[in-house]
Amino acid sequence: MGVLVGLDVGTTGVRVLAVNREGAIVASAGRRYALTMPRPGWTEQEPDDWWNAARDALSEVAGAVEGRVDGIGLTGQMHGAVFLDGGGKSIRPAILWNDQRTEAQCREITAKVGANRLLEVCGNPALTGFQAPKLLWLREEEPDAYRRVARVLLPKDYIRYRLTGELATDPSDASGTLLLDLRSRAWSQELLDRLEVPREWLPAVVESSGQTGQVGRSLAEELGLGPHVPVAAGAGDNAAAAIGVGVVAPGVGVSSIGTSGVVFAPSDAFTPDGAGRVHAFCHAVPGGYHLMGVTLAAGAALEWWRGLFNPPSTPEQLAELAATAAPGSGGLLFLPYLYGERSPLLDPRARGAFVGLTASHGAAELTRAVMEGVVFSLRESLEIIAELAPVEAIRATGGGARSRLWAQLQADVYNRPVALMGVEEGAAYGAALLAGVAAAIYPDLEAASQLTRVRETIEPDRSTRSVYDELFGTYLTLYPGLSGAMHAL
Ligand code: XUL
Repeated sequence: MGVLVGLDVGTTGVRVLAVNREGAIVASAGRRYALTMPRPGWTEQEPDDWWNAARDALSEVAGAVEGRVDGIGLTGQMHGAVFLDGGGKSIRPAILWNDQRTEAQCREITAKVGANRLLEVCGNPALTGFQAPKLLWLREEEPDAYRRVARVLLPKDYIRYRLTGELATDPSDASGTLLLDLRSRAWSQELLDRLEVPREWLPAVVESSGQTGQVGRSLAEELGLGPHVPVAAGAGDNAAAAIGVGVVAPGVGVSSIGTSGVVFAPSDAFTPDGAGRVHAFCHAVPGGYHLMGVTLAAGAALEWWRGLFNPPSTPEQLAELAATAAPGSGGLLFLPYLYGERSPLLDPRARGAFVGLTASHGAAELTRAVMEGVVFSLRESLEIIAELAPVEAIRATGGGARSRLWAQLQADVYNRPVALMGVEEGAAYGAALLAGVAAAIYPDLEAASQLTRVRETIEPDRSTRSVYDELFGTYLTLYPGLSGAMHAL
């Protein structure tokens, strides 16, 4: 019997998993790649670095399962812009989800479409990391490159193109372009016209558990795969991670702390926030939606902090150090806006800060404050989301689910039970489950999600509730008070 493969084109590397029909991981491989920051606030990667990494990791996993692969599901970092010429070659490095170069283009899009109309059609305001503003940026700033563009793809869809030759995406990832009509789950002709983006540049939109071709024959031979391996449309990494922890219906949310941090809640209907403070996107469940808040620097904030230690500490040592400080870090707050901030501030020029420092604070308090600040930032989005969709409990994923302290902090600060899963593999695991539906091994996502299992539930610690509630109240006053200074800096 064959296995299902999930392939995640992440920000730091690619991860490939092979999952058997009972949902157990039987093989995995990963490859890392570089991220370049050619200017402050710019982030880029080479699509061919993704492809080389994906091909190597896929071939390693295919070898481990002796080629018995029944289907491949794709997922990856959202919002990135891959520009291809008429021959299908990448024209320039891809511009990533955390790139902040497009403030002017976002203003232009808002002026052309109208802030309310954007929310009605796309569920989101024009945000710097999204794909459409990057297209306008290329048109204005690199006209020679722009003239060569024939196709624009999202990161995981470039891997699909290399695997199958198909040009396709799915509604969850396409929601992050600012060109999708979320109600019809199809490209919005109105937006394409207003922004003068040719329809033929965009790929077909196929529901996440649908099929988008098969791995090409000679490539399958090279990778050690059998013939006719179907490739599922897949999903953006957050929707795929939700599938991977069994969050397919409203009621339970997801909190993910990886490079970025995400709080995510499914909703049956398209219910955007009137002020666009959190995202409304299509879910990977056919016809479903979700709400989502994104902290741009979550694990990345702790990584930044870790990088300042000499000699360097491991992430585990750092968490041990943080655990020695009291909840609330002795009245110290950290704002994690190291890359500007997405939800709910929507401010690319926000800046990070420690607030409340005294000479009694040491490395333990500062480290704990970094972790608490990330979770406060996620709680700020969660409170907005919870007004729009029910979130009774949370399932944790990402690196934040592998650390006891991060997990307890999430339960305490959200004041909700936080479940840790039996399989903690996030987006790649969800992509494998999507492949299982696409390959007709599972009848639907409901059935596939039965394979996910809660290993342990962490209850909020009542004794810290008032400390965190009070500190969160103060946290909420900081950005409004400091934004002027942040912008001046
Ligand atoms: C979501 C977002 C990030 C990336 C990271 O809107 O920008 O979570 O998907 O991979």
